[in-house]
Amino acid sequence: MPSGSANEDCRNESMSEDLKDSGLTDKGPGSAAEYYFEFRGVNKAFDEHVVLQNVSFQVKRGDTCVIMGRSGVGKSVSLKHIMGFLTADSGRILIDGEDVTHFTERQFESIRRKVTMVFQSGALFDSLSVAENIAFPLEGQPGLTVEDVEAYVAKLSHMLEVEEVLDKLPSELSTGMKRAVAIARALAQNPEAILYDEPTTMVDPIMAGHMGDLILRLKQAFHKTSIVVTHDTHLAKRLADNVVFLQDGRAQVFGSWAEFESSTDPFLRDFLVQDELIPELDVTL
Ligand SMILES: Nc1ncnc2c1ncn2[C@@H]1O[C@H](COP(=O)(O)OP(=O)(O)OP(=O)(O)O)[C@@H](O)[C@H]1O
Ligand SMILES: [Mg+2]
Repeated sequence: MPSGSANEDCRNESMSEDLKDSGLTDKGPGSAAEYYFEFRGVNKAFDEHVVLQNVSFQVKRGDTCVIMGRSGVGKSVSLKHIMGFLTADSGRILIDGEDVTHFTERQFESIRRKVTMVFQSGALFDSLSVAENIAFPLEGQPGLTVEDVEAYVAKLSHMLEVEEVLDKLPSELSTGMKRAVAIARALAQNPEAILYDEPTTMVDPIMAGHMGDLILRLKQAFHKTSIVVTHDTHLAKRLADNVVFLQDGRAQVFGSWAEFESSTDPFLRDFLVQDELIPELDVTL
């Protein structure tokens, strides 16, 4: 079934309704900054190894930015700067209008409440069930009863289609399922923004297409600012409001997928042509 079908619209609507019911709607106007994420001339090297060179890009509030590029170009490194796991050598990083470049670990705690990252591995707690993993960010939140938490978990697991595995341990799940659970847990935190690192790698093409569908539906229902790191052009094309292409430490920024695709840069053309050899993953289950 193609994306955007009547059935899909229906699912998006019900997702939005679920969202309203669950109280997981956006927290209202935050800062007035137009850009939620901003890199201004960021440089990062590990000893002699220069990874980012004067990298600048912006992600508008509510938009989905796709970061692409070959293995080892610094895609994950870029996300880790946003989460405060790495610090830029020079340049500035702004989040929600705030310059976080030299934030302390403690200051980053508040950023990590607003911005959550879905890791490639899922990074789930092995000893907790799927339900407990999803509930984890909700535990101890003031004003939430046990019934509220159960209701959130039920709704999120329904949205992410993991309700069948709520009692299982992460070790019993496939990579794709683990990632869906990780996304549900990230959403339980009700973040303002979500970072996805390679959501469709290490799963088969059907699961990759399915993950793409889920992320697309979340984008349409939640409108949360997102950055998706991927080298899957099929996924990128479906999600991108803008594209950052990293290559040799430099970032090229494109305002739309069409702009990216029509670039005449030889390296970028080569990147795209090679990807066309991979079968279409645009599968809706
Ligand atoms: N903590 C670190 N210490 C030293 N080098 C690092 C560190 N983190 C990343 N690097 C190096 O920085 C470069 C970019 O790494 P990064 O993980 O961002 O690549 P990537 O673009 O995400 O690649 P992939 O598509 O394979 O995930 C790599 O050469 C990596 O070895
Ligand atoms: Mg990476």
